[in-house]
Amino acid sequence: MKHKYKNSFHIEPAQGLLNDPNGLIQYQGKYYFFHQWNRFNTNHEYKEWGLFTSTDLVNWENPGTALVPDLADDKDGIYSGSAIEHDQKMYLFYTGNTKTKGIRKSWQKIAVSADGKTFIKEPQGIETPAGFTEHHRDPKVWQSQGKWWMIVGAQTTENVGAITLFTSTDLINWAFQGTFYSDPDLEQMCECPDVFSLTDEVDILTVCPQKRSSNEEIDLPVSSYAGYSVGKVDYQQKQFVPTGEIQLLDQGFDFYAPQSFQDDKGRRIIVAWMSRMDEEQEKQCPTIKEGYLHCLTMPRELKWEQGQLRQVPLKEYQQLRKDQQTYTAAEEVIKNQQTAYELVIDFKEEVSAFDLTLNAEANSLQFKDNVLQVSRINWVSGEKEVKEIPLESLHKLQIFCDTSTLEIFINDGQFVFSMRNFRTRSSSDITYKHLNEKGSVVFYNY
Ligand code: FRU
Repeated sequence: MKHKYKNSFHIEPAQGLLNDPNGLIQYQGKYYFFHQWNRFNTNHEYKEWGLFTSTDLVNWENPGTALVPDLADDKDGIYSGSAIEHDQKMYLFYTGNTKTKGIRKSWQKIAVSADGKTFIKEPQGIETPAGFTEHHRDPKVWQSQGKWWMIVGAQTTENVGAITLFTSTDLINWAFQGTFYSDPDLEQMCECPDVFSLTDEVDILTVCPQKRSSNEEIDLPVSSYAGYSVGKVDYQQKQFVPTGEIQLLDQGFDFYAPQSFQDDKGRRIIVAWMSRMDEEQEKQCPTIKEGYLHCLTMPRELKWEQGQLRQVPLKEYQQLRKDQQTYTAAEEVIKNQQTAYELVIDFKEEVSAFDLTLNAEANSLQFKDNVLQVSRINWVSGEKEVKEIPLESLHKLQIFCDTSTLEIFINDGQFVFSMRNFRTRSSSDITYKHLNEKGSVVFYNY
C-alpha cells in the first residue's frame, strides 16, 4: 500500500524504526545494505540488523533480518558495524550492547555467512580496552599491509571522543593497538567512524562527534553531526594523521552515521541515515501514524577532485528518468503533480544569482551575494527553516526529490543538502528565476 509519505527510491522499513546503515557490502555480485532496525516499534528501545539487497543500487528487495539480540553479550541491541568479504565468506562486525541494572557494557562481535542468508555469530567478543568507557561501538574493518584493521568509536575515561584501533590476521582474534585518533573536536564521544583512501595521497576519516553530559546515560538533545577529516593513515604509528579540520559532510538538515564501501567498479560509495531529528521532530514525524520511521539517503559516490571531496549521485539513478522536459526561458512556472522527480540545472558557466522554488513553494533555493540558501517547512513548527553556506560560484544543480525527501547536489557534488521534507501542499509546482542564456533546466519524472 502506498502511504502519503512513502518514498519511491529511498530505502525505508515497511514497519518500525530504521537508523544507521550497517555492513554495506557488494557480496557475490549483490549489494547488501544492513541497517539498524526496531521492527516492533517506532522508538529506539530495541535494535537488530535488518537487510535490503539489490543488484543495481536503485531497486531493492527486503529479505528481512540478519542479526537479532539473542546472546548474553548482545541482549540489549545489535548496534552498528560493518562487513567485509574474505575466502568467499561475509564477515559482519557489530557491537553487542548490554545494559544490566542500568550499567552499560559493550562487546565488538563477529558473525559469519557463507551464503548471505544465514549469519552465524562467533562466541567471543572484544572487550573495551582500559582507558575507555563502555561507549565503545560501531566497528569498521578493512584490509591493508597484509593485515585486518578495525576502528571503533570511543570515549576516553576523561570524557573525550576517540577512535580505538585493533588488528587481526584471522578476522576472529583481535589485538588492541591504541588510539587511532582522538581530539577535542570529537566532543565527548565519536560514533560510527570510517576511514578509506580516495587516492594514493588522500585518506578520509569520517566521524560523528557527539556531545555527552558527564552522566553517562543521559543523551543531550541532538548535538551530533557527521563530519570528515582529510589526512593519511600512518600504518607504522597506527594513527590517522589529519591535514585539516573536521568539516561537515552534508549541509542539510538530516544526515548522520554515514558508512562507505567499495564496489566491484572500484567506486567508494557512502550512505547515511537521513535523520538528525530532535526528539520532538522524531515523535511528530508524520510516517509514525503509518507504523514506520526514517529512511536512508541515496547512495553517493565519493571522489577527490581538485583538492576537494565530491559526492556524486550514482549513474544508476538515470534508469528512473522518464518524460524529460527541458526549459531554457529566463523564468518559468513548471506545473507538476509528481512527488518523485529529478531536476538538472546546468548553467554551463558560473552564475552569480539564481532563484528556485519546489513543491508549491514549500522549498526554496536562493543564490545571491555568494551565499546559497536552502529551505524547507519544519513539520513541528509549520515554519520555514533555512540552511546556508558561503558559495563562491554556482554552475550546476542536481536535485532529487522523493515523496518525503530532498537531496540537492551543488556544483557536481562540491556540497550536498539532504533533508526529510514532509509536504502538505496539493501540487509540486516548480518555479525558477534568473536562468542565464546558456543555461537549461531539465525535469525528469521518476
Ligand atoms: C548512531 C548510533 C550508533 C549505535 C546505533 C544504535 O546513530 O547511536 O553509535 O551503534 O546508533 O542504534
